[in-house]
Amino acid sequence: MKLSLLSAALLGAAGATAQLKQITDYGPAIKSAARMFVYEPAGLPERPAVLVGVHYCTGTAQKYYNGSPYKGLADQKKFVVVYPESPNEGGCWDVSSRATLKRDGGSDSNAIANMVRHAVDKYQADPKRVFLIGESSGGMMASILAAAYPELFNAVINYSGVAAGCFFTDSVAGWNGTCSGGRIDQSAAWWAQWVYDAYPGFNGTRPRMQIWHGSVDATIAPANYNYSVAQWTTVYGYPSTPILEKADTPERGYTTQVFGDRFTGVYAQGVGHGVPVHGSEDMVFFGL
Ligand SMILES: *[C@@H]1O[C@H](CO)[C@@H](O)[C@H](O)[C@H]1NC(C)=O
Ligand SMILES: *[C@@H]1O[C@H](CO)[C@@H](O)[C@H](O)[C@H]1NC(C)=O
Ligand SMILES: *[C@@H]1O[C@H](CO)[C@@H](O)[C@H](O)[C@H]1NC(C)=O
Ligand SMILES: *[C@@H]1O[C@H](CO)[C@@H](O)[C@H](O)[C@H]1NC(C)=O
Repeated sequence: MKLSLLSAALLGAAGATAQLKQITDYGPAIKSAARMFVYEPAGLPERPAVLVGVHYCTGTAQKYYNGSPYKGLADQKKFVVVYPESPNEGGCWDVSSRATLKRDGGSDSNAIANMVRHAVDKYQADPKRVFLIGESSGGMMASILAAAYPELFNAVINYSGVAAGCFFTDSVAGWNGTCSGGRIDQSAAWWAQWVYDAYPGFNGTRPRMQIWHGSVDATIAPANYNYSVAQWTTVYGYPSTPILEKADTPERGYTTQVFGDRFTGVYAQGVGHGVPVHGSEDMVFFGL
């Protein structure tokens, strides 16, 4: 009896981990050895949507799969989730090297772009419904991907990240304390230039974007919210101050700031690093 309960528990655990699958041959070999995992819910429709979920430092694909609501939402709404996994010690993404800040530069951003292309092809997904979400280090990666691969994503959400280029140190494992401390004094045009330089000459439609940041974030100082606002309002050609501000939205203490139809910020009063994931709001923003 005890034994069969134990083996049932073991089987259950094995069954749960088997749901997240690794895909080893997702693209051409490049310098980054980032790993690709996917979750494919039962009953996928034709031309499904794809959500790419990029984990935080110390994260893995499995931890993000277990700890975020996207698997459950994928079961309900029937989309594929791609969980990239960092190849770097400490589980942070390369968000600081020159190579990762450029399109097709061979580092982690390039690897994730290759995963997205592979997933769209493998699942015959709808290329107009590919969405990206990232948290912390993954949020920083989300802004880089939006800058360097704008054509791959319909919409991007980043939780507690930084503006593209803010973490630049010209090394893979760099931690840029000037950025995280919120001590970069630069113009909006300077911030926007990082986006233009990530993919020079791009003139298509950029993804819709939403950023979230906590007002008492001690890891990535709140000034980073302003850097991102400066960066993306310039790129989109929006005014630098909100055209619409909604207090206590989506919850008490959070202010939603609309800068234009493609760029929204959510500033969370009294919230620290790692703004809690708001899975159902994310689905509304993506239209899933
Ligand atoms: C940190 O990032 C800023 C902005 O890109 C850059 O000017 C600065 O040199 C970086 N700091 C280090 C230590 O690389
Ligand atoms: C946009 O870029 C493409 C490819 O570089 C180019 O062929 C096209 O003329 C550009 N369109 C505009 C409006 O600049
Ligand atoms: C961000 O910008 C707002 C509006 O301009 C300003 O009130 C606020 O002090 C800035 N925050 C930081 C941390 O610089
Ligand atoms: C990520 O968040 C930062 C601010 O925290 C912002 O500058 C950047 O534009 C965001 N990127 C994306 C793709 O949402």
